Amino acid sequence: MKILVHSDDAEQWRDALAGRLPGARVVTSAEAERRDADYLVAWKPSAALLREQTRLKGIVNLGAGVDALLSNPGLPSGVPIVKLRDAGMAGPIADYVRYGVLHFQRDFDRYRRQQARAEWREHAMVDKGDWPVGVLGLGAIGARVAETLAADGFPVHGWSRTPKALEGIACHHGEAGLEALLGEVMSLVLLLPDTPATHRLIDARALARLPAGASLINPGRGTLIDETALLAALGPGEAEGRLRGALLDAFPKEPLPAESPLWRHPRVWITPHMAGPTPLGAALDQVVESLVAFEAGRPQATVDPGAGY
Ligand code: GLV
Repeated sequence: MKILVHSDDAEQWRDALAGRLPGARVVTSAEAERRDADYLVAWKPSAALLREQTRLKGIVNLGAGVDALLSNPGLPSGVPIVKLRDAGMAGPIADYVRYGVLHFQRDFDRYRRQQARAEWREHAMVDKGDWPVGVLGLGAIGARVAETLAADGFPVHGWSRTPKALEGIACHHGEAGLEALLGEVMSLVLLLPDTPATHRLIDARALARLPAGASLINPGRGTLIDETALLAALGPGEAEGRLRGALLDAFPKEPLPAESPLWRHPRVWITPHMAGPTPLGAALDQVVESLVAFEAGRPQATVDPGAGY
């Protein structure tokens, strides 16, 4: 079988896959013989690269989100796609979210602003048990994040499109479930896929449902948030608005354009889509398994292009 690899670290992937699949020919998208592969292992391939492929039997998406791939105009129809599930990402994302929740629950945002004024003033600590956290999206990553926060002692509400049951998590689904969750949580965490149904789900109405002083943490996708509504809910300047603050890792356009007002908002923390890197070592087994399953004609956990994830 011929495997084509496309990613920032394509050469490492090529060598690792060649080592694990001795019968395969593995090439990168920088090589002249990149055409007519049987399988594509890729993160954000170009439309031209996809169009060059005439006999693809399967695609392995080198990430958890398939939004970029599914909206690629060069994507051939009918070719099964599998995506990474966790693959080393869930742990770092759970840490990122913990950092964000603790940031607000332990008032680090307030202390940072006080430090700028050399102001020594302690805020009464809110107990973890009185700081409910909502996790939207209970896939491999969202479920791990929800379970981590629950193990830390936070009351956790989870929400998914279809009903799910996770031990120790108050699981909600559907529109009414979302309304109920939003009304409860002091930190809202977004880990939903980017689909037409989730586009700008966090709009002015959803933000207005959150308790006053709630915070937003988004290691998911930028398209989940209506940015104008977010800025309005935050309010200008240092004085806390209805929404206390936001920790954002994903944006509709990346890199986040320098002119975005989010960069300069004093209660917004920006990170450059670093919450969940995909380390080759942790993802390799899963990619090899997917390729072997494709070749055996039994691909597992394929993406549903209709649902968008
Ligand atoms: C990163 O954003 C991914 O989808 O894996």
